[in-house]
Amino acid sequence: APAPSTTVGEVVHPALPPLPEVSGLTPLPDLNPDPHILEVDLVARSHAVQLLPGEPTQLFNYNDQFPGPLLHARVGDRVIVHFKNELAEETVVHWHGLRISDQMDGSPVIQNPVQPGASFTYDFVVPDAGTFWYHTHLHQIQQLEYGLYGAIVVHEREFPVFSTERIFVGDDIRLRTTNNQVSGFLTSGPDIGAGRVGNRLLSNGRIINGEGGEGPVTFTMPRGSIERWRFVLATNALSYGLRIRGADVRVISTDGGLLPEPFALERVEIAPGQRYDFEVRPKPDATEVVLEALVLVLDENDNVVEAPFELARGTIEGETVTAEPIYPKVSLPATSVEAASHEWKLSGGVVDGQVQFTINGVPSYVGEGHEHVLLETFEPNVPVKITLSSNVSPRHPFHIHGQFFQILERGGKPVFEPGLRDTVEVRGNETATILTYFENHGRWMVHCHISEHSENGMMADIQVG
Ligand code: C2O
Ligand code: CU
Repeated sequence: APAPSTTVGEVVHPALPPLPEVSGLTPLPDLNPDPHILEVDLVARSHAVQLLPGEPTQLFNYNDQFPGPLLHARVGDRVIVHFKNELAEETVVHWHGLRISDQMDGSPVIQNPVQPGASFTYDFVVPDAGTFWYHTHLHQIQQLEYGLYGAIVVHEREFPVFSTERIFVGDDIRLRTTNNQVSGFLTSGPDIGAGRVGNRLLSNGRIINGEGGEGPVTFTMPRGSIERWRFVLATNALSYGLRIRGADVRVISTDGGLLPEPFALERVEIAPGQRYDFEVRPKPDATEVVLEALVLVLDENDNVVEAPFELARGTIEGETVTAEPIYPKVSLPATSVEAASHEWKLSGGVVDGQVQFTINGVPSYVGEGHEHVLLETFEPNVPVKITLSSNVSPRHPFHIHGQFFQILERGGKPVFEPGLRDTVEVRGNETATILTYFENHGRWMVHCHISEHSENGMMADIQVG
């Protein structure tokens, strides 16, 4: 029987169907009986994880889980996070992709760092449905590599129903081969130029490549199932292709939620910080369905080649009949509009022997300080085109806090990259043009998601309204 309607203050909420379980990560327990409030405890602390045989790896995690626990809500819910910092260093929590108030965004320009032993309560209403993530936004070069991140799922008010929903978080980590510990951080060379890349690949905290790794996430799925697979890329600098073998697959959602029209594609490209949701239907003759990361590696002859790595593997077992999922109607902001054109030039170089990254020539955030430069001020709800260009490094996965945008062009030519984004890959020697309406008032960070770039200058603020 459906649950009776509940009353919150003066507002009567109709009864809502319970949220479906999302397999793959453990959800945060809800401490609040109100069905429209998700109230949780989140603690950051050092934590040892058995990633490989031998010595456990010392990480920084949320709630002693790697990745951190799943924050699972419904659009319109109020979310209260009692955060406690039990690390020996300061930190903040940023809610990547949530268009909430700038006061709750976990941006170090607004929020004072949470000191060791101190607490902070984040309190916001989730305005959009989709797959998002949360992560540290301080000393990010180290803290993100050490594992301070987790996933967020916000269900649509009327969500399409699948036989199963799953979530996978991809990451990489550089471990010492001698003792399994996170290896030291270099302040020069390719680690700064292109960002640190790991020697091990992770899927939901399991090592999937090389000796001693646990291998892909495994499960069984019946023939005839229609599943929703959500994917978050939490790497520092590694972008890759994503492909699902053994199934008919459609992309149904990007950073900002469901697409107006799902589309089929052999593979998609994903950059650090981005998300995709897939609709997955095992092929009639398939025995397994495999999610693969397509990563550039060196072969025995030192040639750069692309190799597939299994992130997740579903073995077909049993049979089921699944009703067609019914997708809610989605419309995106118009893209063929008159819009002012802005340019953000991403650059870098060596100044006084120090590597420095800049946006429009200004190093906006350098070293340990939290001083930010105001890059530009925008009117809210006015369409703006921004052309991002890069003259350094292979690429910059560029992120705008608190807003969504659409990717219109690369190199001045229209591209098929549908859906709302909060992060766009700006490749070397190519421009990327986005269109945004800046709907969310406040002071927002804009930065490259490669921590070595953002923490060495490629990070600034914009003011909306
Ligand atoms: Cu995912 Cu400013 O970050
Ligand atoms: Cu960058």
